[in-house]
Amino acid sequence: MLRDEDRIYTNLYGYEDFRLEAARKRGDWDGTKDILARGRDTIIEQVKESGMRGRGGAGFSTGLKWSFMPKKVDGPVYLVINADEGEPGTCKDREILRHDPHKLIEGCLIAGFAIGATACYIYIRGEFYNEASNVQVAIDEAYAAGLIGKNACGSGYDYDIYLHKGAGAYICGEETALIESIEGKKGQPRNKPPFPANAGLYSRPTTVNNVESIAGVPTILRRGPAWFAGIGRPKNVGTKLFCISGHVNKPCNVEEEMGIPLKELIERHAGGVRGGWDNLLAIIPGGSSVPVMPKSICDTVLMDFDSLREVGSGLGTAAVIVMDKSTDIVRAIARLSKFYMHESCGQCTPCREGTGWLARVMDRMVRGQARLEEIDMLQDVTKQIEGRTICALGDAAAWPVQGLIRHFRPEMERRIADYRQSIAAE
Ligand SMILES: Cc1cc2nc3c(=O)[nH]c(=O)nc-3n(C[C@H](O)[C@H](O)[C@H](O)COP(=O)(O)O)c2cc1C
Ligand code: SF4
Repeated sequence: MLRDEDRIYTNLYGYEDFRLEAARKRGDWDGTKDILARGRDTIIEQVKESGMRGRGGAGFSTGLKWSFMPKKVDGPVYLVINADEGEPGTCKDREILRHDPHKLIEGCLIAGFAIGATACYIYIRGEFYNEASNVQVAIDEAYAAGLIGKNACGSGYDYDIYLHKGAGAYICGEETALIESIEGKKGQPRNKPPFPANAGLYSRPTTVNNVESIAGVPTILRRGPAWFAGIGRPKNVGTKLFCISGHVNKPCNVEEEMGIPLKELIERHAGGVRGGWDNLLAIIPGGSSVPVMPKSICDTVLMDFDSLREVGSGLGTAAVIVMDKSTDIVRAIARLSKFYMHESCGQCTPCREGTGWLARVMDRMVRGQARLEEIDMLQDVTKQIEGRTICALGDAAAWPVQGLIRHFRPEMERRIADYRQSIAAE
């Protein structure tokens, strides 16, 4: 169990004030100038050593990503913070934004300095009204206190931070669609290469990071990379915010050790599954984009990147969606298919046509109005989408359906048989 003194987000529930004075008492902005004085290369090395993997979904090493930024550039270089948080089930970044925004602002300064950025844009989803106003208050306070802006923290480094509100499309969370959106264009992902580190925002070198990845950096650098690397298992380290929703007694957000057993996470923090653990049907462990897992896997799986990948799912955003035995699992996944159809930006044929096809067939599967062979056809179509599109929304649409077929095929077959029987009886 994560010890209290190892928590990064000590104001996750907003029991204390979010403003500068209270944030300073919690340890934020303590010795920031000294951290910057370590120099760009040391900071990047230490973030690499800490083992921090991106908290936006893909789990890519944060320090390694920073090291891809060109070292000597003339002109603007940008850090972009992804505060779009559109993944269904996910509600962790918003708590940092509204209750602990100074952790993010300090992280933006240190990360920006490390990658040689001249400015930072925080792209926040438009619906996050209270979160945006708290972040703006924190930015204004940081400017007034000389923590950012000209000669930030007395370091000799000039750095501006801007807050940019999005207009509420899921696809704008994809990093290159997000960049397009900041530029005032339609939020559609770009083909890669070039990657943002070479040509990102306004075609300038850019790093895009998730809120939780960056807000954790100041504490990691204050306490030392070995502290963070010592929590969890090798390659799956640190503390992690988990969002637990669905059929649990006490839905919650909680900071825990990476790699905590899923069952323990739910029983200790979310009051257990409604009706007890044996009443569990399935869990989606990382936001709607990762494959669903039946109870037999949930019994023992650990909540980290590699353990979940080994059982055919993923940590994603660590949004744990719990479904008890009252759930119509085919209908639940069909609802997700509808979501991906709605959110596809329409650029690539496999995603534009495939997500609609999946949604329509899944809709029939809910009622059993399908032929048995169509289950294999459904699987086949997901394989035609997966890995063949510009961005990962195509994969995100394919994986929930694949998870359903892998683990709940008998349920799909039963519905088809029941429907046949009901017609025959008429
Ligand atoms: C369709 C789609 C939606 C995404 N939405 C988000 C999001 O809301 N927030 C986020 O941080 N990352 C999101 N991502 C991942 C980003 O593209 C990117 O990988 C991430 O911001 C990188 O940050 P990290 O390295 O700190 O994890 C999304 C990706 C896809 C394909
Ligand atoms: S995969 Fe879908 S959402 Fe992503 S670029 Fe292609 S059409 Fe757009």
